[in-house]
Amino acid sequence: NTQCTTEEFRPRYHFSPAEHWINDPNGLIYYDGVYHMFYQYHPNDTIWGPMHWGHAISTNLITWEELDIALAPDDLGDIFSGSSVVDTTNTTGFKTDNGNDPIVAIYTSASEEGFLTQVQSLAYSVDKAATFQKYVNNPVLRDENSPDFRDPNVFYYGGKWIMSLAVGNKIEFYGSPDLKTWSKLSEFGADPQQGNHDGVWECPDLIPLIADVNGDGTKLDELWVLLVSINPGGPNKGSATQYFVGNFDGTTFTSFTWSNTQWMDWGPDNYAGVTFSNEPQGRALVVSWMSNWNYANATPTSAWRGQMTIPRTLDLVVVNRTADQYRLVSTPAEELQELRNPLHYLEYNAEINVLPQSIINLTEQAAFSTPLMELEITLNISKNPEPSFAICAHNTIGEEVCFGYSNAEYYLDRSKTTNTALNTHYTGALVSKAVREATEEVISIRMFLDVSSIEVFADGGLTTMTAIHFSSQPLDKIYINNWSKAGSSAILKVKNFKVYGLH
Ligand code: FRU
Repeated sequence: NTQCTTEEFRPRYHFSPAEHWINDPNGLIYYDGVYHMFYQYHPNDTIWGPMHWGHAISTNLITWEELDIALAPDDLGDIFSGSSVVDTTNTTGFKTDNGNDPIVAIYTSASEEGFLTQVQSLAYSVDKAATFQKYVNNPVLRDENSPDFRDPNVFYYGGKWIMSLAVGNKIEFYGSPDLKTWSKLSEFGADPQQGNHDGVWECPDLIPLIADVNGDGTKLDELWVLLVSINPGGPNKGSATQYFVGNFDGTTFTSFTWSNTQWMDWGPDNYAGVTFSNEPQGRALVVSWMSNWNYANATPTSAWRGQMTIPRTLDLVVVNRTADQYRLVSTPAEELQELRNPLHYLEYNAEINVLPQSIINLTEQAAFSTPLMELEITLNISKNPEPSFAICAHNTIGEEVCFGYSNAEYYLDRSKTTNTALNTHYTGALVSKAVREATEEVISIRMFLDVSSIEVFADGGLTTMTAIHFSSQPLDKIYINNWSKAGSSAILKVKNFKVYGLH
């Protein structure tokens, strides 16, 4: 969307608006060859304000074309987050004789008249999402007692529409034959032992996924994953998205109990992620807002503020092959391989032993220089003792972001990129941590670097960490640093790596 820009911090292959403020992705939907991304948008400022749904489209999940605003505030209030669906069987009766399926947006109308009222409303399009009309009988769902009553996420299952709705710090499920009348089905999240409750629950998404239990297709468990964003309460304070794995019978979602809260992404900047509706390959394809409410309004960009993650596919895996050990894995959408510039490629397949206290420059032989890079690297580590290491994107003035490993934890460190006086919440999350779930001596890491972000997928996406950062010069080189103590017998070997310069 912004190929030729020289604006500071402007991402090149992540969606950001040409101007003004964005937050959550909304109404993600595929229809007739086009991916539509709507999003929370303030058309008059670079800080959060009266919310609209902005609109962008893509056919390749890489380049996005920004269109006119899809939904603007009305008598019921501002347009908060929500979802959209294709009503193929015309349950709503919105279909016209032009033959197009109605695309129906289900969103929260939020008004502040003495007290905050949040109700659920519909808007529909019969011209393939080019324009939307508000439904005349809005709202379609209200509750006088709940100030936090928002972010409807709707899908069709078991002969009816199902809505997941964030209410305080639980999720309520509603059912409807026609999207217009809703009745409550059940609730999830009242048990304080299940998941994190240190903030308000937002932006739910209930997704069917199949877990390949034995890894060989012999036992396929059909399960459900409930994404729940929470703010504050995230692992780095502020915003983050937790998930629950369990069963859904068309009425009730029951989660397996967890010993620990599971986060879809353990970095500071991955929030309000939801999946595309009507995805043509049936993928659970998620896009998140790449920021954190703790400092979202204060990031040092001008004219625009906010960007989205790359689209990622979600899958379920079983770790340690014991019951109840389902984990979500995230994989960059395969379309993103088109980002690779065939002329900007570096591959190295011989083993490199990285001795304690030594640094190997991975991009030393690169015949290109760009901050837009994808790195794929496979490492071998010893156990007892294990090495401590970091892989860093850096520049010659000492700015860097690092993804590393130490004491059985991964970490993401952006402390050497802050060239601005961001608020203390930002600096408080300069280093994020995540327990490594995998136990193998082989570590595979995939990393996406853009001008102002890093997204890391370790162990096949079992641990994912995302952060925005603000460096004054491009981070266009990569090194690996074995920072184990001098004389340590811990071994760190690079088995192979590839660096792709991206378009
Ligand atoms: C999440 C959120 C939603 C709400 C929207 C308002 O970031 O707070 O719960 O609908 O943003 O912009």
